[in-house]
Amino acid sequence: MQISQKKITAVQRKILSFYRQHHRDLPWRKTTDPYKILVSEVMLQQTQVSRVITYYSNWVRRWPTIQHLARASRAEVLEAWMGLGYNTRAVRLHQAAKTIVSAFDGDVLGAMQHYHDIRGVGRYTAHAVQIFATNANLVAVDTNIRRIFIKEFYLPESVPDQQLWQLAERCLPKGNSRTWHNALMDYGALHMTAKTTGIKPKTSQSRFSGSDRQIRAAILRMVLKQDCSFKELQRQLNVDPQRLDTILGSLSKEQLILRKNTMIALHPD
Ligand code: ADE
Repeated sequence: MQISQKKITAVQRKILSFYRQHHRDLPWRKTTDPYKILVSEVMLQQTQVSRVITYYSNWVRRWPTIQHLARASRAEVLEAWMGLGYNTRAVRLHQAAKTIVSAFDGDVLGAMQHYHDIRGVGRYTAHAVQIFATNANLVAVDTNIRRIFIKEFYLPESVPDQQLWQLAERCLPKGNSRTWHNALMDYGALHMTAKTTGIKPKTSQSRFSGSDRQIRAAILRMVLKQDCSFKELQRQLNVDPQRLDTILGSLSKEQLILRKNTMIALHPD
């Protein structure tokens, strides 16, 4: 990849200047608490900022520390997440909290440095938490930032992740990582959007209505209230038994539900 330092400096200036004029005032930008930032980053995966804001605020009020979250029950956590979508994220966040408390003595930042040991936390999330909490000189490339780099540096959409992350490192203004990443997020969300660029995310979301995702969410809603029989679920959801069976199979493989004979329950913590 032949990209000059001059071009990189020009892109940095443009994006930081955009941020000075248009930055968004978001609740997770008012804290440097790594736990709260972790919550926000997990919520923001696959979900728009406008929808996350109230869920985030309610969540950190209810569970203000990683220890509080680790002590919550799975049912409580799932209920608080309901409506945000992709509910396995809630279970993974809860499991991560328990691991961080039991294996890292509640040290979220320390845990982010060993993210390979924490199921469900990947490089993006681990770096984002360190960047926003401590201004660490790390880079994090999500779907919005990927789109900016592709557009600004005229890269093919097939550009491998490794090259993108390397380029991101060259672009990072050292000592200013927090502001730089906030600026990238705002530039990507407000200016260089998927609509204005025509660049699609690598994995796009399926339609919710009529989807397996919708049925999964409805099943969880029902078993959160009480255990259900297969027949009850089938009748309430009006879904083909074969399809229901397949979906229940994947929910139980992911340890979200437990199947006992014909009864279905929420998986215990
Ligand atoms: N998307 C992912 N992380 C974000 C953040 N910290 N601010 C805004 N949008 C985001």
